[in-house]
Amino acid sequence: MTKVHLPIHEHSNGRPQVGLAIEPQETGGFEPRIIAFVCKWCTYAGADLAGTSRMTYAPNVRTIMLPCTGRIDISLVVRAFLQGSDGVIVSGCHPGDCHYTSGNYRARRRWMLLRDLLDTLGVDLRRLDLAWVSAAEGAKWVKTIQQFTDDMRQLGPYSALHAVAGDYSPDLAPLAGSDDDAPGVEVDAAEAGVPLDPALAAAMRQALEQGTAKAILGWKRRIVPGPLQPTWITEASAVGQLMVAVHGGNLTRLFKQPQVRKLGRVGLIVRYREALALNVLLQEKQLDPQQTLAFGVDGQGHFLGVVDWADAGFIRRWETSTSAAEKPSGFSEQTWQSLDKLMALSPAQRWDFWQQHFVRCIKCYACRGSCPMCNCGQCFTDKNMPQWFPTAADGPGNFSWHLVRAFHLAGRCVGCGACEEACPAGIPLSLLNASLARSAWKHFGHRAGATSAGVPLQADFRANDLENFIL
Ligand code: FES
Repeated sequence: MTKVHLPIHEHSNGRPQVGLAIEPQETGGFEPRIIAFVCKWCTYAGADLAGTSRMTYAPNVRTIMLPCTGRIDISLVVRAFLQGSDGVIVSGCHPGDCHYTSGNYRARRRWMLLRDLLDTLGVDLRRLDLAWVSAAEGAKWVKTIQQFTDDMRQLGPYSALHAVAGDYSPDLAPLAGSDDDAPGVEVDAAEAGVPLDPALAAAMRQALEQGTAKAILGWKRRIVPGPLQPTWITEASAVGQLMVAVHGGNLTRLFKQPQVRKLGRVGLIVRYREALALNVLLQEKQLDPQQTLAFGVDGQGHFLGVVDWADAGFIRRWETSTSAAEKPSGFSEQTWQSLDKLMALSPAQRWDFWQQHFVRCIKCYACRGSCPMCNCGQCFTDKNMPQWFPTAADGPGNFSWHLVRAFHLAGRCVGCGACEEACPAGIPLSLLNASLARSAWKHFGHRAGATSAGVPLQADFRANDLENFIL
């Protein structure tokens, strides 16, 4: 074990810098590179205390100070690994001590979701830690870093993840076992559609004639064979052109189109998947209930009535009438079974499984375009000042995109499967989304779209959220 004294370096701003300019010791063996993201108010001050107290610990850690653990975006963690870190540690104030009241509670909640997502991707969770270290706990910081460094030395370099950033040519050999055993989700052809229920058609005509809806979103047949095509009508005489898609897509994604937003009050055909998505959008204040007229239909296209947004329990109308293919969770039974199969593999096998899929991604962003929940004005991946991620369809770009895309849907994805249906590379994206949905349910009893009231999962916290994985 290598131990050095931590010299206190004077920075040009006059503040002492701890552990940033230490010359690495020659060890003759592997020395891990560790990134520590620490909050300014507690852990950084604790590390400072360790330095001024002349405590010693391994020099492998590079400390990056942020205002609060609540500010530590998962993209920073991903980036640290992709740039060669063998382990990442995040540390901040103890619960109840956050300078911003609740930043660390939110960080803790995100950390739980992130761990489960990384586990699904086959990332080695031993290389990731969260610790609460106060400004007075210099000794705890030293012990934490020393232990973490020793653990990383034992584990060796994280070559599997570093390889993603290097030569992006994972072995594309199929996983062991027959195709039947391989996890994955069959994408529905999504061609099936049924004509409008007469009662539904009458309600739509009435809405357009009376002006209670300026337009109605639905589906129509394509000119060439293929899945039904989303469309909208503005005339009552055009109602006969509409159909109800039995499978596939999610009409609520059209709400993010400026052309639709400016139409005013818009009606749409709402299946179970749209009902869940609308609930999430309403909860996130992305939609004005007064601007939306929802015509509910069940799994066979039967008219359920116009949805009353004031009725908090309206979602149950689908749950009692939904078809076997659409369970209350939104995800299909097949997706849950595939997820179980995937999680039964070892982390290394899961890692290979995803690498074999991600290498096929061409970054077309069809998953984003089809998702009703991807409604940011500018997607993080399109930002270039600063640029958070490489945008190329290569190892770092694809891994970062799929990880962060899934994470942004944590507690929000309703399991409609539109992303997976749209993916031309056949990547089983629903498995990542389902893994986070399961995590949200297991840890927080949260089900996306169950209600339009309350606070979104990642904007909320409980003081007694689980933390038995925190140092
Ligand atoms: Fe330290 Fe929020 S200020 S965790």
